[in-house]
Amino acid sequence: MKQTYINQLKDRIGHDVTLKGWLYNSRSSGKLVFLQLRDGTGIVQCVVFKGNDESVFEKAKALGQESSLIVHGTVKADERSPIGVEVDVKGIDVLQNVHDYPITPKEHGTEFLMDHRHLWIRSKKQNAILKVRHTVIKAVRDYFDSNGFILADTPIFTPAACEGTTTLFEVDYFGDDKAYLTQSGQLYNEATAAAFGKSYAFGPTFRAEKSKTRRHLTEFWMVEPEVAYATYEDMMDLGEGLILHIVKSVLNERRAELEALERDISKLEAIKSPFPRLHYDDAVKMLQDGFDKGELGASDRGRPARSEEDAGQRPAVRRFEWGGDFGAPDETYLSSQFGSPVFVHHFPTAIKGFYFEVDKDDPKYALGIDLLAPEGYGEIIGGGERAASLDYLEKQLEAHNLPRESFEWYLDLRRYGSVPHSGFGMGIERTVAWMCGIEHVRETIPFPRMLYRLKP
Ligand code: 4AD
Ligand code: MG
Repeated sequence: MKQTYINQLKDRIGHDVTLKGWLYNSRSSGKLVFLQLRDGTGIVQCVVFKGNDESVFEKAKALGQESSLIVHGTVKADERSPIGVEVDVKGIDVLQNVHDYPITPKEHGTEFLMDHRHLWIRSKKQNAILKVRHTVIKAVRDYFDSNGFILADTPIFTPAACEGTTTLFEVDYFGDDKAYLTQSGQLYNEATAAAFGKSYAFGPTFRAEKSKTRRHLTEFWMVEPEVAYATYEDMMDLGEGLILHIVKSVLNERRAELEALERDISKLEAIKSPFPRLHYDDAVKMLQDGFDKGELGASDRGRPARSEEDAGQRPAVRRFEWGGDFGAPDETYLSSQFGSPVFVHHFPTAIKGFYFEVDKDDPKYALGIDLLAPEGYGEIIGGGERAASLDYLEKQLEAHNLPRESFEWYLDLRRYGSVPHSGFGMGIERTVAWMCGIEHVRETIPFPRMLYRLKP
């Protein structure tokens, strides 16, 4: 008999079906066994009556958690079921009866669960998070694909740094050449944007982040659009459109998962255009006022990767000073002033990457933009306008101590048809964490990579 998936059952009431899956949970009482069967699309209660067939009943009673089984039965409407149906079992084929599944319904510590990530992803909550991730990624692709962008993926082995040399993973590339795992596809996106007008890359990126925080992975996925003849302001429009499309898609397609995660859905429904746009100076003032009013706790300034976990070891609480980079508590405070995501633009040139365009009227500001998510989820988008002048970039490479040879091809983009252009990167995991309302990015990717975590 053809397999029916659990998410199709509500349309099969009264029919005989065959379900193929695993035992999520079970209980028995007298003449009944209740099997919670999962198949990846959902969980359904399958009821076995002793009176129907004693051998099926005995088989069902003996099954342990995560046993693999095929269930034959009839679909019945059931008002008490979260999916509106249950299955009256006629027969069971047991592929494997399991009795020592390590993850039981009791509480386990995070380390234990992370060590068993390959099994943990079967659980209801983890499953829901990863489905939201799927929908976020699909929404991202839809958005760019339907707005004239060409997907042009960028290499993972790269000869040079894009986002500073302190977080580079070095790999041996056949002995002679050194290669690094990419921190961002941006430099290559600038080449593809000159070829296609609008392009985007979407892939894994790597940062040797030597700190444990709830926002940092060493391997994470970033989507990076790049647009020729666009300004940093255009990037705020584009980023806002992207986020609105993601939020809408998740609300439309993943309501059941958000409910399973006990997400406060009203917070997502409140996300509306336009997002506030804050000059860095105004953000600084807001932080200083917050500090003076005693509303702002420890400022993490200068160490964006520093964790809340080690906040206890941080020295004195300081007033944020102009010129610093926002730390996690600063970002949290800023975004808490608004119900929606907030853009910050015009960062001090000195704290930004070598490639930023500067404000022509005041070169101490770089035309960078960050988008801070609400509810303390921090920066989810970073980007801005790229320097278009060959002269300036040559100086910047020197000032940032970057090896000129590795960037010659990049300088070509300023030699042959240089135009103003802009782009950004959005981190998938932070965005998913925000959508799901969960504490840590480690649960937003099937197999997270972090400092001290390279398995399973
Ligand atoms: O702000 P970042 O470093 O920007 C860039 O890499 C630019 N070159 C992108 C571009 O303009 N094309 O990173 C962009 C985003 C951050 O806003 C954050 O969402 C995410 O990538 N991100 C991380 N996510 C998880 N773990 C980490 N260690 C991350 N580092 C950055
Ligand atoms: Mg950034």
